[in-house]
Amino acid sequence: MSPNPLFDPAKGRLIAVSNRTAIDPNARAGGLAVALWDSLAETKGTWVGWSGKLRDFAGSKLRETTDDGVKFTLTDITKEQYEGFYLGYANSVLWPLLHNRLDLAVFDNHYFKAYAEINLKFANIIASKANEDDFIWVHDYHFFLLAHDLRAANVTSKIGFFLHIPFPAPEIFRALPEHDIIGRALCDYDVIGLQTENDVRNFIRFLIEDFGGEPINPEQVRVEGRSITIRHCPIGMNGPEFAQTARCEVADQAVAKLNRFLGKRQLIIGVDRMDYSKGLPQRFEAVGRLFDNHPETHGAVSFTQIAPPSRSIVDEYAQLREQLDQLSGRINGDYGDLDWIPIRYLARSYTREEIAGLYRLSDVCLVTPLQDGMNLVAKEFIAAQDPEDPGVLILSQFAGAAEQMQDAIIVNPHATDEVAQAIKQALEMPLSERKKRWEALYQNVCDEDIKWWRDQFFAPLKS
Ligand code: G6P
Repeated sequence: MSPNPLFDPAKGRLIAVSNRTAIDPNARAGGLAVALWDSLAETKGTWVGWSGKLRDFAGSKLRETTDDGVKFTLTDITKEQYEGFYLGYANSVLWPLLHNRLDLAVFDNHYFKAYAEINLKFANIIASKANEDDFIWVHDYHFFLLAHDLRAANVTSKIGFFLHIPFPAPEIFRALPEHDIIGRALCDYDVIGLQTENDVRNFIRFLIEDFGGEPINPEQVRVEGRSITIRHCPIGMNGPEFAQTARCEVADQAVAKLNRFLGKRQLIIGVDRMDYSKGLPQRFEAVGRLFDNHPETHGAVSFTQIAPPSRSIVDEYAQLREQLDQLSGRINGDYGDLDWIPIRYLARSYTREEIAGLYRLSDVCLVTPLQDGMNLVAKEFIAAQDPEDPGVLILSQFAGAAEQMQDAIIVNPHATDEVAQAIKQALEMPLSERKKRWEALYQNVCDEDIKWWRDQFFAPLKS
């Protein structure tokens, strides 16, 4: 392979930046954490992020630790910064906007001030550590401005950015009062990785229409004399490793526990962070419609939704929780019986091992977001299945994963009857068809795995 012009591990280190890091060993099992961990360990790299702690005053004391050769440089933030940067701009402006929920965005100029302040704070931390041969790899919507701030601090290292969530049509992005500032700042990255072809199309169109970008080839655009590489790299996971996890002792214990309640019923599962982008109310309605339309499912099918609460201080998230409480209450009230609870809705988290076991036990998995960057639940569910008796994946056409996982039953999550019908089809699917679909899906999970994702991002650039 020709030398990688982006990053040569023999010369430099990798400096990864993300709001949340894997400082907590329990958080290391996830896709991103695993991918970054391996890359950082190989190069004895540094992971810069938020410590997860708040402090009363804007001090600059860093928490520095080393684990397995990976250095962590973590910073606390103040309560005001947390409110303006994390709860405010990141999660009440950018998150809804990038998920096409302009109606939920709360535009408040204090938020952007805090966002810019935190980006600058991180840029200063990184500038004090980076050498020219290092590669700075920035993750997600919390740090759109970082490359711009780093260039202003005279950092000459190559800087890459990977967006884990969708990039919307420019018409939506332009609603953001700061779209111009953010767009210009993004042009300071050398390479930008996006999850889907659609994100790539949207982003390139944004560069062309708003910044006079000129396409050099399908993945490079020249803007004001600089060339930016835009790469399509859908994030993956380690399939065989997760398959093993689904067979470990903790997984078996979780299976045994749920089985006591389940008996001989078929199990439908959903696992999502409690977020309005995940389409949970629509999913509950669709399960209710299944019970409306198919009385034979009463007492024969059980739906378990695991939804750990997240960002619950933000209003929309608190409202969602109420809505789900009401919906599950209504459906259980309508259909439940002395020996059957139709919807089990668990607003708490379980370990990765427990979840893996539950996937393996399930006959059907509902992954029906209204908008999602990728959705690794879809891939994990597939990886956890018993090849001799696999379950069926029902996947929203609006999840990034749908691009790679066309052998799932693809649905429109807004179409209640369609989703209810898809569940019925999945519950009745013959073994031969389940196996055929699963084999194609698992092949893709293994081919386009987490290492492939990293290589896609770092693959030599075409000149
Ligand atoms: C999404 C984002 C991540 C974020 C995660 C959890 O997957 O892309 O950047 O870390 O949600 O959200 P939280 O706000 O708890 O970090």
